[in-house]
Amino acid sequence: MRGKFITFEGGEGSGKSTQAALLAGRLRTLGISVVLTREPGGSPGAEAVRHVLLSGAAKPLGAEAEAILFAAARADHLDQTIRPALERGAWVVCDRFVDSTRVYQGAVGKVESTVIRALERVTVGDTLPDLTIVLDLPAETGLARAAGRREGGAVDRFEGEALAFHAALRDAYRVIAAAEPERCAVIDAAPPPPRIADEVWTVVCARLGAAQVETDKVEPDPERSPPDGEPSARPRAALDAAVS
Ligand SMILES: Nc1ncnc2c1ncn2[C@@H]1O[C@H](COP(=O)(O)OP(=O)(O)OP(=O)(O)O)[C@@H](O)[C@H]1O
Ligand SMILES: [Mg+2]
Repeated sequence: MRGKFITFEGGEGSGKSTQAALLAGRLRTLGISVVLTREPGGSPGAEAVRHVLLSGAAKPLGAEAEAILFAAARADHLDQTIRPALERGAWVVCDRFVDSTRVYQGAVGKVESTVIRALERVTVGDTLPDLTIVLDLPAETGLARAAGRREGGAVDRFEGEALAFHAALRDAYRVIAAAEPERCAVIDAAPPPPRIADEVWTVVCARLGAAQVETDKVEPDPERSPPDGEPSARPRAALDAAVS
């Protein structure tokens, strides 16, 4: 059975990497095979492109060229890492994905939506996330966190943009989440990490838990198997225990 694909999105310093790692760890404690990955990057080819993008080397080429480079990296990441993992039944937890392009290069970078959609069609196709967690935080707070993490090091290509750019990112993420409520869940990223992790877990269990019950089904025990059509209780209990 195909694994589940979960992405984390949000502005700089909103806690994507922190929460992606916490979720991956929590899923693994249930015995689920998890691939934790990130964009730009996540495969050797895409990691090479990551440096070009985040160093700012591609900035003079314009937002459209950057979008094309992101798409090239994403195509490799999907082919080399994401699709093979999903096909072997692993869950993929990805730190940034297609919504970052829609927001950074599209809504805020002003690349035509027809171009963004065309790139998406050829790279992502139907490998859209089953669930996208949007971590929502005022831009100032996120930038302050990112600066704290850097400890005086240089800002990257996108951290170096003005505050208005970052405020616009937040708005654009909210617009996407409102337009695709079945795929996206917006979570307040202001509380401490463990509280956010609990919120994330509640959403994952509510939206994807039913599928997990299927994959985690125990072999029927002829002596104790439930009546036809009734699911086995054990996997549900495991998920419930993990949520509480
Ligand atoms: N809920 C939180 N409250 C306070 N600080 C946090 C919280 N979550 C993460 N941090 C801290 O904020 C900084 C940024 O977090 P993290 O790297 O997870 O964000 P990010 O969204 O991945 O950032 P970027 O967009 O730059 O990759 C880190 O130093 C992290 O320890
Ligand atoms: Mg990060």
